[in-house]
Amino acid sequence: MKDTTPLLEIRDVSMRFEFVEALKSVNLTIGHQEVVALVGDNGAGKSTLVKIIAGLYQPSTGSLRVRGQETRISDIRNANALGIASVFQDNEFCENLSVAANLFLGKELRTNYGIRDENSMHVRARAVLNTLSSSIQVSRPISSLSMGQRRTVAIAKTLLNNPDLILLDEPTDSLSIIQTAEVLEYIRRLRAEGRSVVMVCHDLPDVFAIADRIAVLRQGWIIAVHNASETSYEQILAEIAGIPNVDDHEDTDLERPLPHGDCNPRRGLIKRRTEQSGLPA
Ligand SMILES: Nc1ncnc2c1ncn2[C@@H]1O[C@H](COP(=O)(O)OP(=O)(O)O)[C@@H](O)[C@H]1O
Ligand SMILES: [Mg+2]
Repeated sequence: MKDTTPLLEIRDVSMRFEFVEALKSVNLTIGHQEVVALVGDNGAGKSTLVKIIAGLYQPSTGSLRVRGQETRISDIRNANALGIASVFQDNEFCENLSVAANLFLGKELRTNYGIRDENSMHVRARAVLNTLSSSIQVSRPISSLSMGQRRTVAIAKTLLNNPDLILLDEPTDSLSIIQTAEVLEYIRRLRAEGRSVVMVCHDLPDVFAIADRIAVLRQGWIIAVHNASETSYEQILAEIAGIPNVDDHEDTDLERPLPHGDCNPRRGLIKRRTEQSGLPA
């Protein structure tokens, strides 16, 4: 029977860094076996949201539910134990070590005698790279890999824990067209295996190529979540930029003052924008 409990529910999550409110009352649900893209301009709060799910930050307010259970994700290790793995923009490797050694850095396999089990690590490293259909040789030094291959190793590393949810922050950033196509293919493969992916991506063609749903962040708010098949490049771009669409222009509610604590971010943004620009709402 299909599990209808969401994999992850983000409820009313806010995040404050001193004077910056990076996230404002964010609600988002991640289902099983889906790819959700987080899009938005620089500083919109995308990485902060991913870091909260990854266990790197604790939200200032709000809660997370994993498979229906309210959960505090205390750190990356705890996230891994919950089946959540992450790859961040600046994945760090030990340049002098091999692909296999980097994959198992900090969690080396050992024999029953407590000795590093190089053989098992090579076999297992080969197996995870195979699941991505990657032919990278696991004995190669990581320093000899291209940017795209390093990204592949970073994604493969998440698979060691057999996660249900993989978080990718800008997975196609600074990759060539071919390498980008490869990474998108890996993401498809992860989904085909039954996993879910939340990816931050500012490249809208990549987003439309892969995402099932698209969440648009602006100034810390999630202002829209769309099924990718039911929206358009233009609509997403307009939402990222905070440009009201035709329907919003006709919304006469905008003429009324916003009640204190109005939590409809879209309306608030549109209102502020029209005030600033002097355009009629
Ligand atoms: N560790 C931090 N300390 C202080 N401010 C931060 C920190 N991380 C992010 N911010 C601020 O939070 C806002 C959202 O940042 P971020 O989540 O990185 O945005 P995005 O990934 O969408 O570009 C920005 O104003 C940023 O400067
Ligand atoms: Mg970011």
